[in-house]
Amino acid sequence: MARLDPHSCNDAAQPEVTHLDWKARVDFAARVIEAEATLELLSAGQGPLDLDTRELTVHGVFGEDGAKLAYSLAPAEPVLGSRLRIELPAGTRRVRIAYRTSPQASALQWLTPAQTAGGKQPFLFSQCQSIHARSVVPLQDTPRVRIRFRAEVRVPKALRVVMAAGFVRREEQGDEAVETFEMPQAIPPYLLALAAGELVSRDVGPRSRVWAEPSVVEKAAWEFGGVDAMLLAAEKLFGPYEWDRFDVLTMPPSFPYGGMENPRLTFLTPTLLAGDRSLVNVLAHELAHSWTGNLVTNANANHFWLNEGFTVWAERRIQEALSGADVAGLHAALGRRGLEKAIAGFKDHPEWTRLRTDFAGVDPDEAYSEVPYEKGFLFLRAIEEVVGRPAFDAFLRKYLDAFRFRSITTEDFTALVDKELPGVLAKVNAQEWIDGPGVPANAPLARSARLEALQALGTNLPADEVAKRWTPTEWSLYLESLPHPSSREACAELDRRFSLGKSGNYEVLVSWLSLAASSGFEPAVPRVEEVLGKVGRMKYLKPLYTALATNSATRENARRCFEKHKDSYHPIAQQVIAGILKKNGA
Ligand code: BES
Ligand code: ZN
Repeated sequence: MARLDPHSCNDAAQPEVTHLDWKARVDFAARVIEAEATLELLSAGQGPLDLDTRELTVHGVFGEDGAKLAYSLAPAEPVLGSRLRIELPAGTRRVRIAYRTSPQASALQWLTPAQTAGGKQPFLFSQCQSIHARSVVPLQDTPRVRIRFRAEVRVPKALRVVMAAGFVRREEQGDEAVETFEMPQAIPPYLLALAAGELVSRDVGPRSRVWAEPSVVEKAAWEFGGVDAMLLAAEKLFGPYEWDRFDVLTMPPSFPYGGMENPRLTFLTPTLLAGDRSLVNVLAHELAHSWTGNLVTNANANHFWLNEGFTVWAERRIQEALSGADVAGLHAALGRRGLEKAIAGFKDHPEWTRLRTDFAGVDPDEAYSEVPYEKGFLFLRAIEEVVGRPAFDAFLRKYLDAFRFRSITTEDFTALVDKELPGVLAKVNAQEWIDGPGVPANAPLARSARLEALQALGTNLPADEVAKRWTPTEWSLYLESLPHPSSREACAELDRRFSLGKSGNYEVLVSWLSLAASSGFEPAVPRVEEVLGKVGRMKYLKPLYTALATNSATRENARRCFEKHKDSYHPIAQQVIAGILKKNGA
């Protein structure tokens, strides 16, 4: 038996699934999906076929000619879920599994009409990364194994279905509609994605449209209106876009991430709708994943930095091309602060601050942090500094070419660096970057004239004329650089002069509220609680709950707030925040 992914029961000696045919009926009343999954194998198998599942109810498993096949569902393991073992008779190329999901499926969030912008229709969406696809479809839920798929999804007629796939058709039958999708490119299972709700779209470019609820769509179409320019800039940097369309879906506020790079249909949090396009670096990031992540994919969570570190690097190159090096430099500086904070937060887990990790037995959602993003970015920048930008850009093209539509490990990466850029790994001290904790001393520093001006200010308050010219990124960087906690007087002065609690930019708002809450500045607490009731993006929930819970005066507020709002958070966020509260005795 060879298990090559610590988060999957997939046995590398068994035949690989290459294609999924999914027929699903979405039942909003019962909060379940009734489904049939037909899995096609690369080669005919015999004997056990192990699949990952989580809280699925299996009705039956059938072979080639419809004959019932023997199967067993193992007891659930804490992180992995339950292994579904199917006994394949000799010559089996295809199995069909009839099953239903659980109302608690970890990938799915079911929203009542009242939890949507329109208030009339329910909403369902999935978030499968890292290991939640198994709560929707029984699969070899490891990015080592890529699949193509076809899906037919049945919903109430008032709803639209969207998937990270090509749209084929919509047919209405009685009270229901069946929407068909086809995904011709092979994807890792964590990129399976669907949403259903009252959704409309606006075209914003020849290859792109923006989906959202009707009351949000105009705002979203404007905010993300630069997407085609981004696509063109990215293609110039990284080569042709391989996924046909690049559409985006504006999610309900409870979406647990800023963005998710579901192929052909990026999911984005509505907290990006600042009204001034100041947060579109997240869009650039998800677009960049079309090359780094979706084309070249980490083989498992131990090599997650290959997905995110490369993508942060690519995001900042797009940003530099469109907005200049100064802006990209400010973002890099902000990233560096986030990295230091993440490392400090992992003082009990220094091994989680390596680039190559060992997450056997560890829930990837629990170990999630900015480390693979920003340390990965710095490692690539360190290599770039040694070889120069032209040579590094040429290497990147070779990397994308060598590993396109494949799933790779850190060792595959270092082997290619050794071949294409001999001697460089030793020069940058790659060993320390990859297997050592923290940030090596040769980490490149962010450069930007505006960054220097900020650094010169230190912890002093900015003059009004200076502050007036600050972008939201400069505000975030300034706030993140102040001591946590600061004095209440300093908070009061900031509040009085700049009213940051009214900022329409969530990065600025949450940086301010985290500072205020961790400094015991009580007047900010109601606003903190308001934000915790409005958004479910973990990047905001985590620092705000942490600030409230680490402070004895507000620990009770954290507990009460979570009790009140937890049902409106995605299952992944519920689990992560419960962990934070527990750790802080709230
Ligand atoms: N793929 C990630 C989101 C993710 C990672 C979901 C791991 C589940 C498990 C996505 O591309 C991402 O990194 N989003 C960031 C964007 C930011 C770095 C610009 C986010 O959500 O904040
Ligand atoms: Zn990412």
